Amino acid sequence: MTPLSTVAASASASASTSTPVDLMHHLSTEARLRKPNPMKAIWKLTQRKPNMVSLANGDPHYSLYPIRNIHYEMASVAEEDPVASWRAGPSAPSQTLTSSVHEPRALPLQAGMQYTAGAGLPLAQRVVTDLTNFYHAPADHLCTLTLGNSDGITKCFRLLGEPGDTFLADEFTFSSVTNVPLAQGIKWVGVKMDDGGMIPSELERVLAAWDPARGRRPHVIYLVPCGQNPTGSTLSLARRQAIYALAQRFDLIIIEDDPYYFLQYDSPDCATTAPSTPFARSFLSLDTDGRVVRVDSFSKIMAPGMRLGWVTSSAAFHDALVAYTDSSTMHPHGFGQMLIAEMLAPGAGATGGWQLAGFDRWVRSLRAEYHRRRAHFLSLFAREVAPSALASASCPEAGMFVWVRVHVERHPRLRADVRVRGGEGAAKGPRTNVRELMEELFERCLDGGLVIMPASIFALAADPKWDDVEDPVEDRVNYLRATFAGTEEAMEEGLTILGQVLREFFAEEPKAVV
Ligand SMILES: Cc1ncc(COP(=O)(O)O)c(C=O)c1O
Repeated sequence: MTPLSTVAASASASASTSTPVDLMHHLSTEARLRKPNPMKAIWKLTQRKPNMVSLANGDPHYSLYPIRNIHYEMASVAEEDPVASWRAGPSAPSQTLTSSVHEPRALPLQAGMQYTAGAGLPLAQRVVTDLTNFYHAPADHLCTLTLGNSDGITKCFRLLGEPGDTFLADEFTFSSVTNVPLAQGIKWVGVKMDDGGMIPSELERVLAAWDPARGRRPHVIYLVPCGQNPTGSTLSLARRQAIYALAQRFDLIIIEDDPYYFLQYDSPDCATTAPSTPFARSFLSLDTDGRVVRVDSFSKIMAPGMRLGWVTSSAAFHDALVAYTDSSTMHPHGFGQMLIAEMLAPGAGATGGWQLAGFDRWVRSLRAEYHRRRAHFLSLFAREVAPSALASASCPEAGMFVWVRVHVERHPRLRADVRVRGGEGAAKGPRTNVRELMEELFERCLDGGLVIMPASIFALAADPKWDDVEDPVEDRVNYLRATFAGTEEAMEEGLTILGQVLREFFAEEPKAVV
């Protein structure tokens, strides 16, 4: 296996030096008013010195757990291309890790399955900290384990958002999390994007021209910098630096949701993504002020059902997050924490663990596998869909999504003048019937046996009072999100159906493009 020192030399981050800024004014009233969980406060005292006797907590004794050992049979990372070897089937080489009550292991099962600190078990916290330091080298940050990014992000929204606040995000975004704080009274403003993701000058325009009648100027921005969901776009280093500079100028907290960080690919012309290809620099690695809250997950690189991730933030924000966790989800998932501890702990190699070098080998091999899938998807798209000239596909630099543009301007029933005239609010709303046509296309895909994501569900739920009258987002929902995460058969069948449905849908004598 590649020695860690060699791997470390290829990691992209270089340690940043920090001049932390006091950013406590960003915390919500709720976060400030939250009282510590009194039971957790007492529980922490059991760790004050070794051999404390506790009659305090209702912690079931481990001898009553009906579990003695947990064996995890995992892919061997001793192989040149571990993901390709692993996919060979049941005979593929494996490594077995064990969590045990009686055998000496990195993390004894009796501790792993017990109630623990909101930030996670110390060893689990340490391994994600080592991992974060290795790839991002942040200055003055702490890691807090979560139940995955959805948990981490929505907790961040609660810790930062006040009812009536406005947050910023891409105009098409991961609505699964951005819809959550609407119920909390948070409003959203979408920032325009292009193929390279959020456009910094558009962000600057929104912030510089902020109308105080809209309330407090946004102080939080939510970003997915690599393989953005749904557009698949990736922010260049220049854009990241420009957005970070704007965050400093306008005093923003950046929530960097980066579950696709490890799935970054070489250009489509390359046959594969070389293991040595560096990972892009994260916002966290650029952060000198402590204004980046980075949210990582094991969902896309291990398995989503692990429900395990981690937030990397300033110490002050970490404290607020732990206090919230202590009073809500209590702490992250025990099985997942034991697995990552046995997998990544320093010295865990002796008991079958991957350690950081093995993890690095796995993720670099995994992205080569996704590179192959991306290539397969795009070649099928070129065969089944593109020849009709009714849709075109982006080639994502990262992640698992292709943003398919439907050339709705060729549809014979496209109307550019649907806006109701006269009466109050008549100047608002869509100008075209793009949204209706796309809903119809979606239904036709379903009838044909294909489920694909319509862009409309990702359009940021922005405050309608402040709609962009000139260029409403509803007129730009002529996109579909398709994934290449599935099997080759699913891609083949799905794109064949899409091509067929598009041809039928546009069959009413396509208009010439003007
Ligand atoms: C951008 C983005 N953030 C967060 C998540 C959810 O991650 P997790 O499974 O860790 O909650 C996803 C999953 O699709 C995603 O695409």
